[in-house]
Amino acid sequence: MFIKKIAILGGTGFVGRSLCNRLADKGYETRVLTRNREYNREELILLPGLQLIQTDIYNQDKLNEHLADCDAVINLIGILNERGNRGKGFNKTHVEVAEKILAACEHNNIKRILQMSALNADEKNGASYYLRTKGKAESILHNNSSHINVTSFRPSVIFGPGDSFFNRFAMLLRLTPIAFPLACYNSKFAPVYILDVVEMMVRSINSSDSYDKCYQLCGPKTYTLQELVQYTADTLGIWRKIIPLNDLLSRLQAMVFNFVPSKPFSTDNYLSAKTDSACSVHDLARYGIVARSIESIVPTYLKQESYRSSYTRFRSGARR
Ligand SMILES: NC(=O)c1ccc[n+]([C@@H]2O[C@H](COP(=O)([O-])OP(=O)(O)OC[C@H]3O[C@@H](n4cnc5c(N)ncnc54)[C@H](OP(=O)(O)O)[C@@H]3O)[C@@H](O)[C@H]2O)c1
Repeated sequence: MFIKKIAILGGTGFVGRSLCNRLADKGYETRVLTRNREYNREELILLPGLQLIQTDIYNQDKLNEHLADCDAVINLIGILNERGNRGKGFNKTHVEVAEKILAACEHNNIKRILQMSALNADEKNGASYYLRTKGKAESILHNNSSHINVTSFRPSVIFGPGDSFFNRFAMLLRLTPIAFPLACYNSKFAPVYILDVVEMMVRSINSSDSYDKCYQLCGPKTYTLQELVQYTADTLGIWRKIIPLNDLLSRLQAMVFNFVPSKPFSTDNYLSAKTDSACSVHDLARYGIVARSIESIVPTYLKQESYRSSYTRFRSGARR
């Protein structure tokens, strides 16, 4: 299968921007579909071979049209919190999008899909709406009857410049003087570096070995959330007393934060965190990728980003 032009949904986000860069390096043509071209054009439109198109991906006719001359589709669309209630928002963003991508691939005879999923995604047994809908999206794509070759990627939390994990905890730690109450402190994560994730995806595109596989992507070491938050504080050079919240208080904190507009933590996040986000196999090694550690990367951007993030927040408020 010769792949030259790739349509990317969700290509404007944290993973998408790195992936688009790497695909441009490799000489692929890319077509990134976005809900807001103006807001997302910075950085992306300068990449050679990249088209950034504003559209409504939920409109099947438009999606069919935008995918018409593409050889493959990469779906990076995902949300951690929903606007709607009881899973409706997750269902629309994860499941409905997968259904529409599959229909558009069938319509255009596209035979390759890469799907960004998450560790512990499971249609039936996932602990949260996030994990169940991510699992359902995988099932829909992998069980297609049109001989479309699908590969899914299941990363633990992804880190790198611009991430929403270390940067978010850095911001929260700075805002919280002295004592920092931490829900789900004992949950486990194996943070994986953005460029390792992106490299894995790029190497998989043309690899028939990856067809119909779900790859688990983890960094070299697993940590508790408390260790990661402590590491963030140490890297920033600030002292905070981290107060681990028990299960009841974690749930209560999530219930309260459900009502905060930016939802820094939600009941669905709490439920996701009940399952450790760590790999049972290390699939990066299959493609000769040596996973990089947080210790070798995070200090290079964390301090710098805490200054930049205030500008980003102002810009984002002004929709610029
Ligand atoms: N970052 C992590 O630590 C992590 C860990 C595990 C799995 N993942 C998965 O990896 C993928 C990429 O993550 P990311 O961190 O790059 O996310 P991100 O920065 O939030 O980007 C996601 C993109 O999806 C699009 N999107 C968001 N909500 C949408 C909606 N309701 N309808 C249509 N499009 C929507 C947005 O594109 P436009 O605004 O341009 O339309 C956005 O740029 C997601 O599927 C996520 O679940 C991420």
